[in-house]
Amino acid sequence: MIPGIQHRCIFLLIVAGWLATGKASTCNETLVDTVTNDKLTASSKLGDWVSVEKSRLSSGNGWMPEDTDNNPWIQVDFEQPLTVKAIVTKGSGNVGDKYVEKYMVTYSNTTSTWITVTNGTSKEFTANSDTTTAVINNLPDPIVARYIRLYPTECRKYCILRFDVIGCRASECSKNMVDNVTDDKLTASSSKTRDGFINPDMAKLSSNGWSPNSIDTYPWIQVDFGRHIAIKGVVSMGSGIGLNAYVKEYRVNYSSTTSNWRTVVDAEFQLHTFTANTDPTTPVTNYLPSPIVARYVRILPTNFYFYISLRFDVIGCEASPATSTVVGATQLADTTFKPTLFNSTQVGFCTCICTETNDSMTPQKVQARIETIVQNLTVSKKKTSKYLRSKTSAQDSRPEVVYVGSVAIVILCMFASLIVLPDLYTLLRFIYGMLKCKEK
Ligand SMILES: *[C@@H]1O[C@H](CO)[C@@H](O)[C@H](O)[C@H]1NC(C)=O
Ligand SMILES: *[C@@H]1O[C@H](CO)[C@@H](O)[C@H](O)[C@H]1NC(C)=O
Ligand SMILES: *[C@@H]1O[C@H](CO)[C@@H](O)[C@H](O)[C@H]1NC(C)=O
Ligand SMILES: *[C@@H]1O[C@H](CO)[C@@H](O)[C@H](O)[C@H]1NC(C)=O
Ligand SMILES: *[C@@H]1O[C@H](CO)[C@@H](O)[C@H](O)[C@H]1NC(C)=O
Ligand SMILES: *[C@@H]1O[C@H](CO)[C@@H](O)[C@H](O)[C@H]1NC(C)=O
Ligand SMILES: *[C@@H]1O[C@H](CO)[C@@H](O)[C@H](O)[C@H]1NC(C)=O
Ligand SMILES: *[C@@H]1O[C@H](CO)[C@@H](O)[C@H](O)[C@H]1NC(C)=O
Repeated sequence: MIPGIQHRCIFLLIVAGWLATGKASTCNETLVDTVTNDKLTASSKLGDWVSVEKSRLSSGNGWMPEDTDNNPWIQVDFEQPLTVKAIVTKGSGNVGDKYVEKYMVTYSNTTSTWITVTNGTSKEFTANSDTTTAVINNLPDPIVARYIRLYPTECRKYCILRFDVIGCRASECSKNMVDNVTDDKLTASSSKTRDGFINPDMAKLSSNGWSPNSIDTYPWIQVDFGRHIAIKGVVSMGSGIGLNAYVKEYRVNYSSTTSNWRTVVDAEFQLHTFTANTDPTTPVTNYLPSPIVARYVRILPTNFYFYISLRFDVIGCEASPATSTVVGATQLADTTFKPTLFNSTQVGFCTCICTETNDSMTPQKVQARIETIVQNLTVSKKKTSKYLRSKTSAQDSRPEVVYVGSVAIVILCMFASLIVLPDLYTLLRFIYGMLKCKEK
């Protein structure tokens, strides 16, 4: 073992846990402020002086639809789903006594189907009663959506509106990654080739669904992202052509090379089977027990209804600049994680190169933290005491070795290319899981 390697591994884990834990957010940003004008659209505008870009709270005029527009709306596209908690509106700053008194809110991820926010029985929110006061309407429950639309339903003289949306980016790493690849990056063990109808490139969420050849006993579908990406989850749907066929369970393989496949495992290091769809049309999102970094991802349907018909996407983000591959397992909460903490280029083998350091974490602090964590772990002594005793009698009596043991450290290293542990609890579970694993 390379001297000091265990320190660095643990250091990384601690820093990762630390960074993730400290990331409490109030989720109260004004989100329209963060998008460019081209992300704002509307059903119509009376003129350029009241066009959509005038709808920002900071603008004077406000947006105004055409007189003849019977169902006016204004929309913002955030490009990815994010969390919205409230809507804030104002009337016109410059155009006299005109404002929106009531509006409806709808939201969507696709623009093809919209959901209306309801507050009890009412779909309308009470908005402004003068031109200058910002009125904040909290949504009954926070929503997660890419598109938000406001429909003014009652207006004072004219429907002039300035608005913003209060919330936060749901996660920095929640993009639909397959959506963006070219069709030739999707390949499969086999395909029903009838009419070229159900080929692998049909596996995108927006398409018809991929089906393997019916004699294929070990079907899989693969996406090659062309580079390493960070992966948090998989979303799946069944047939897109109206047939009642879908995948009920699948496993996920991933790799850097197409030859060295690994299967996503659960917290007990067992191959993880994801429970997927129960109808063809409802998207089901499964988060991986821990985030991975990989170039190739394979979905292996293991159980299906009627026949295998799969549409899917991979939820994640760019993993650059550091590339790493992650094995191991912890529960991944749906929190932001930073996929740049590790630089481990070999699959499943920890090279433990720290790409980020945090000067405020002195070695003493790190050591103290490790000790607390390990102490807390050993509270449930039953599971670990045997192991600790055997290590105490070993000739190597450096404290950190007594605590965790060099073999455990090797395992730790193997799993240390974990991108981030979402919180301290997860970190504890992770280390605990490893101690348990070592015992076996
Ligand atoms: C969000 O909350 C913080 C702290 O509570 C506050 O300082 C900030 O002004 C709030 N931002 C908005 C847009 O309400
Ligand atoms: C949009 O997608 C996000 C993440 O995939 C999901 O949490 C949310 O429920 C979706 N919203 C709608 C309206 O479908
Ligand atoms: C929602 O409804 C409740 C009671 O019906 C009302 O008190 C509240 O103001 C409404 N909220 C909004 C945002 O309209
Ligand atoms: C999709 O690809 C384009 C161009 O390659 C890139 O600019 C964009 O950021 C990508 N989007 C996602 C979600 O990866
Ligand atoms: C999936 O990964 C396992 C290793 O866990 C490997 O044995 C198997 O061949 C892989 N299957 C496919 C279809 O990639
Ligand atoms: C990762 O480490 C390797 C080996 O030290 C180095 O060549 C490479 O530049 C590093 N990558 C990043 C992104 O830091
Ligand atoms: C270092 O840790 C402190 C908390 O101790 C945090 O506020 C700071 O942002 C961290 N710095 C970096 C570069 O991560
Ligand atoms: C250890 O346990 C104590 C009390 O049970 C708790 O206050 C402390 O936060 C725990 N430390 C860690 C690092 O989990």
